[in-house]
Amino acid sequence: MNKNPIGIFDSGVGGLSVVKEIVKVLPNENIIYFGDTARVPYGTKSKRIIRKFALENVNFLLKFNPKLIIIACHTVSAYASSYLKKKIKSVKFIDVIEPTVEKVVKLKKNKKIGVIGTTATISSMRYQKLFSKHNGLTVYTKDCPLFVPIVEEGWFENEVSYKIAEIYLNKFKKKKIDTLVLGCTHYPYLKKTIKKIIGKNVNIVDASYEVSIKTKKILEENGLENKNGKGEIKLYFSDISPYIERTIKILFGKKVKYKLTKNV
Ligand code: DGL
Repeated sequence: MNKNPIGIFDSGVGGLSVVKEIVKVLPNENIIYFGDTARVPYGTKSKRIIRKFALENVNFLLKFNPKLIIIACHTVSAYASSYLKKKIKSVKFIDVIEPTVEKVVKLKKNKKIGVIGTTATISSMRYQKLFSKHNGLTVYTKDCPLFVPIVEEGWFENEVSYKIAEIYLNKFKKKKIDTLVLGCTHYPYLKKTIKKIIGKNVNIVDASYEVSIKTKKILEENGLENKNGKGEIKLYFSDISPYIERTIKILFGKKVKYKLTKNV
């Protein structure tokens, strides 16, 4: 039993898609979320900068004494997950890439997999390397950098998001993929738009559910669950854009309080 919060971070609002699932799977847990909206996007930046920002974000979360930190960002998971684990030994980390790969590998039908992510995630080759350990899979990748700013602006389903998605996803239609991995926590906001383009028969996989299940398992194994907690959510951002409130409301279906932090 441990009442300390679960720390979760991302470059912006993307990681809230993970928070939403965590709340469903672990409703009693307290959550501290940090979105680095002042410095989003991360996916177009270098490994050095991504690591620097990631470490600063973790140092901010450590002030709340978290029992676990979820790296709710594929870009940070790709470039900084082992770096953070080496640097900070006092807390456990869960990243979003490994649970996603494990889920896809478990799905029996898929042979042809498309992976979309930020430029950093795709260039890191992390997905490609993890999938290459499994026989019989063909993996196609495409970076979709414009998805992040359109999601930060709340354009989930309009002509512009549709057109951009159509251009990015065209490659996968030709390859006849059967599974599409949303390798960025911003992308679940665009799921409906992506589905319209890619078609009903393609299985869309996003990490949030798997990450929640993995979190639950780790908490149970280590006796760290908060079984009787009220499940308080605290959201912090390094900058408040005019769209944040609307995005939070769309995602959670209600208002959730958030604060600006000048700590990073
Ligand atoms: N949501 C993040 C990811 O999963 C980062 C996107 C970005 O800041 O470019 O990769």
